[in-house]
Amino acid sequence: MDLFINILLLFSACVGGFLLPLTVVNRLFSWLSDSKFKAFLEVLLYLLSFIIPVWLCWAAYSQDRTILSSLSATPVLFLGIAPLWMTFAAYTCSDIFTHLKGKPVIPEASISQSTCPYQMRPEDPGIFMPAMNRIYQLDRTLLRIEIDGLNPDLRGLRFGHLTDFHLGKHCHRSFLKHAVDLIMAEKPDLIGITGDFVNFRKYMDDCFDDLAELAAPLGIYAVRGNHDYWVGADLIEQRIEALGFVLLDDKTLELHKDSHPFILSGTEQRWKKDPPDVDHFCSDSSLLKIVLAHTPDDFPLLVGHNPHLVICGHTHGGQVCFPFFGPVVVPSVYGRRYASGLFKEKESLLYVSRGIGCYPPFRMLCNPEITIVEFV
Ligand SMILES: [Fe+2]
Repeated sequence: MDLFINILLLFSACVGGFLLPLTVVNRLFSWLSDSKFKAFLEVLLYLLSFIIPVWLCWAAYSQDRTILSSLSATPVLFLGIAPLWMTFAAYTCSDIFTHLKGKPVIPEASISQSTCPYQMRPEDPGIFMPAMNRIYQLDRTLLRIEIDGLNPDLRGLRFGHLTDFHLGKHCHRSFLKHAVDLIMAEKPDLIGITGDFVNFRKYMDDCFDDLAELAAPLGIYAVRGNHDYWVGADLIEQRIEALGFVLLDDKTLELHKDSHPFILSGTEQRWKKDPPDVDHFCSDSSLLKIVLAHTPDDFPLLVGHNPHLVICGHTHGGQVCFPFFGPVVVPSVYGRRYASGLFKEKESLLYVSRGIGCYPPFRMLCNPEITIVEFV
């Protein structure tokens, strides 16, 4: 019995020690702007998430092979480990509660998914753990949203969504072209891109050469993400406009399909120093309203303006998901709440895409995706 309790205590402390630094990464880093200090802290916290469990196992093994005897000998150690157990307990309770509650039913929306894998070429760089790494298993998500009172001429409006290319060595232009080809095959009326175009400036040509193949009768619209502000917001803006795309840098437009109007807005306030200014979101209008944002953290702010749909990326779905536990690292002030998928607050829907690229190049049980939204 003692052995079982000791193993349980050690296991829960190790998992808590893994999760606690990652929780700090999730919450704190979605507020801090990018800097060398932030990058240093981030690496330190990721390292701690591995060092703490390894150190605990070593400490337990070297002191009579029991963590209980270690604790009784050193109360300071107990105080150090208690937060790890609390973290483990908080995550476990939250997961059990989420599973018991089940997925909320959103009757006006339905989702169907199919996978369109990218076929690797001999010249592509190898990937880490190819048997379980899903970075090239691109999902096509079809989200159908029924809107009460939608103008009959807008029924069937198709909106293509691409996000988080993170173009680099592994998420290279050949893979992006695969995603571009898939979205073009859907013949969307308009296309929205919600940021994080490249990981480094040197991939800018590759990225925008591929994006030049996008076309849609009602236009292509974009907002920039945190990586774009880090790489160079002005440079990204120039590239977007050079292709004839429209940068929705805190703008609202009235678009028309067969002369019937609807509203498309974009927000980038999260990455700026200015206080949020969302007055342009036309909360009084009864027209169909779609908002592009990079991060789901903007959703609670936008709900007050009654958009029908807010669509974004940023979280990459957590990239690494575990059976039962789901994702662990989600860069959001709301933790794992908006990691990916469809959500509803008041009368507004939020769709969080898992994105096309990733950073670093590893995904487990979390495929990349392109999304087609059909309004009916
Ligand atoms: Fe991203």
